[in-house]
Amino acid sequence: MKGIILAGGSGTRLHPLTKVTSKQLLPVYNQPMIYFPLQTLLNAGIRDILIIVAPDHSGDFVNLLGSGKQFGARFSYEVQDKPEGLAQAFLIGSDFIGKDNCAMILGDNIFTHDFTSSIKSFKKGAKVFVKEVPDPERFGVVEFDSSGKVLSIEEKPSRPKSHYAQVGFYIFDNNVVEYVKTLKPSKRGELEIVDLANVYMQKGELSVESLDGEWIDAGTFESLYRASTIVRENDLGMDLEQISGVKIEVKNIKKPLTFDN
Ligand code: G1P
Repeated sequence: MKGIILAGGSGTRLHPLTKVTSKQLLPVYNQPMIYFPLQTLLNAGIRDILIIVAPDHSGDFVNLLGSGKQFGARFSYEVQDKPEGLAQAFLIGSDFIGKDNCAMILGDNIFTHDFTSSIKSFKKGAKVFVKEVPDPERFGVVEFDSSGKVLSIEEKPSRPKSHYAQVGFYIFDNNVVEYVKTLKPSKRGELEIVDLANVYMQKGELSVESLDGEWIDAGTFESLYRASTIVRENDLGMDLEQISGVKIEVKNIKKPLTFDN
């Protein structure tokens, strides 16, 4: 299983903080935001990671993260010239994905959930993850029945059909590389992740899992503030005592998983 961290976008909701840097490099309590999604992938056993960045601050990501060696992983980088939707990551990342399955995490999403078992047990199709929220209209919204079958999935609907937000962590099988090419840009001109999930849903290959623990999309002032509190209270992130040394310790790290494809 390969991993993508999508850290592109212009972060306009956080202006002026993001005028001179990327959202995913902003501090969340004591660490740069991108450390947290990185920690989530590393803890889930994923070691081959593509980081997709916006052109303006791309060099800063390389300066911060390097080759991945320090984290016991291998990092690749691609530039997203223009932010044209989350699903665009699979076009940009198609060479990187190759013949593998792929998990993607958004660079501003912070989780306390452990995705290891979902990644380990994944065989085919697509899997999205949900969390019950009071304000579903801010997110992709998933409607599903008691057996976990997905009935609908919509991006920021004005009348949400459920209170379950699609969080920024997704697992796709290798067909994603072909399916993403069939998508048309939405009304807002973006290749939508919900449209990609819909392709799988129509084939009966989309499953959903509920999350344990905390989840936060740190893309607004309020959520960025709350993210710092969650990180502090849950002691999330890298072990900073090690940070000036050669190797950076990732708390709760698991052994890498091996996969047939
Ligand atoms: C994106 C996705 C949305 C998802 C959210 C999770 O929204 O489009 O489906 O629920 O991330 O963080 P954005 O935060 O980019 O507006």
